[in-house]
Amino acid sequence: MENIKIKTDQREIERQRDSIKRLREKLKGEDLTYFITTFGCQMNARDSEKLKGILEEIGYKEAEDEQVADFVIYNTCAVRENAEQRVYGRIGYLKSVKRKNPNMIIALCGCMMQQPTVIETLRKTYKHVDIVFGTHNLYKLAELLEIRLETNESVYDIWETHKEIIEDLPSIRKSKFKASVNIMYGCDNFCTYCIVPYVRGRERSRKPKAILEEINNLVEDGVKEIMLLGQNVNSYGKQMEEAMNFAGLLMEIDKIENLERIRFMTPHPKDLSHELIDVIANAEKICPHIHLPIQSGSNKILKSMNRHYTKESYLELVKYIREKIPEVALSTDIIVGFPGEDDEDIQDTLDVIEEAAFNFSFTFIYSKRTGTPAADMENQVPADEIKEHFNKVLDLVNKMSFENNQKHIDNIYEVLIDAPNAKKSGWITGRLRDNSLVHMSGEESLIGTIRMVKIISSKTYYMVGELID
Ligand code: 5AD
Ligand code: SF4
Repeated sequence: MENIKIKTDQREIERQRDSIKRLREKLKGEDLTYFITTFGCQMNARDSEKLKGILEEIGYKEAEDEQVADFVIYNTCAVRENAEQRVYGRIGYLKSVKRKNPNMIIALCGCMMQQPTVIETLRKTYKHVDIVFGTHNLYKLAELLEIRLETNESVYDIWETHKEIIEDLPSIRKSKFKASVNIMYGCDNFCTYCIVPYVRGRERSRKPKAILEEINNLVEDGVKEIMLLGQNVNSYGKQMEEAMNFAGLLMEIDKIENLERIRFMTPHPKDLSHELIDVIANAEKICPHIHLPIQSGSNKILKSMNRHYTKESYLELVKYIREKIPEVALSTDIIVGFPGEDDEDIQDTLDVIEEAAFNFSFTFIYSKRTGTPAADMENQVPADEIKEHFNKVLDLVNKMSFENNQKHIDNIYEVLIDAPNAKKSGWITGRLRDNSLVHMSGEESLIGTIRMVKIISSKTYYMVGELID
């Protein structure tokens, strides 16, 4: 069985490589450009790096903006409705751009495309879209482009489920010193509000050997920090024949020489074990930052969300984490307005926020996703009530972030300098090991290096520091 899998996998890669080669020949000398817009999470950002890799291998170069590009791709997100509306708005707008540039090719991919209602709408209303594919066949971009160019007709290729994991296709990494690495795909948790299990399919893990090889190669190329990606990283390895779990994988990665920082997301509170927390506490390179989505502090709502933990068990976990990793930063996701949520439930959420003292929180308004169990629940919360609850939550999470950031003042930390500061010239921006954001005056030549920085002041979302070496 195993051998057959590997063979199909390799055949598929070769087929794609052949497509890339033929396209490179065909399009030689045409000076073609592309522009990719990525919506949603880091998983999508990583997928876009793979799309870029394929396009650049064909010979496309990145355009400055989408209006002048020959190939425009939207890599879409389906988690909340407003991201979907933005995509529809932009595809509508592209119609007028395409009128001026009829050779423009428009491709759509990602999570939105895995929903049959979206495909229906596109076929009916957005006929100027050329290529549509989903989350399971992203690696087929070259082949789909070839079909589009040959037939001059729109190509739709959506798979309901995944096949084998395709390794070894090209990808263009956004950063030279930070990289994301998929360790698993899909999700089996079926939280009742969430569309992800329907659009990303069942959980499957990459083999430890493939992951370690990829990270070793990245480190050889100068990468200092890696982010391990999975919808539910604690489930890593559960479906594999090899005896390896997430804690074991982390220990292996921690041994890689010259790698400086390891991050991961996202763990699920229901199966973040003490064993894993101990591994994080004892490892040399795993950063003291845990993003642990709580979603709600009310046991009634957590049950209805199908989250499989309680306010009490979550807080017990937080206590253990803070005990074992005192310098840890904890962040979370919170959904406000889940069906049936009342004043008392929000009070529970506020209590947990205060007790857990999150360093950073992403707060979302519940978005009804067709096809999920929560969409059919009768007790949907009125918008004005949600807004009131949302503001209360936001005020408190901001207060907690501000207070946590104040504690850093006058201390000295190791900072990986990431980028020039977006707003202030002569300034640069970096991240502490606990993922806090810090801005400081400094030269762009420092980008990609690790420096010691003294924190001199702090705000809600960032701190200001001073280079001391
Ligand atoms: N509405 C609002 N937020 C959602 N999330 C997932 N599904 C929904 C939804 N239907 C949030 C969760 C998750 C984060 C990635 O997105 O908080 O942790
Ligand atoms: Fe969605 Fe829950 Fe899976 Fe996260 S764990 S992707 S919230 S179903």
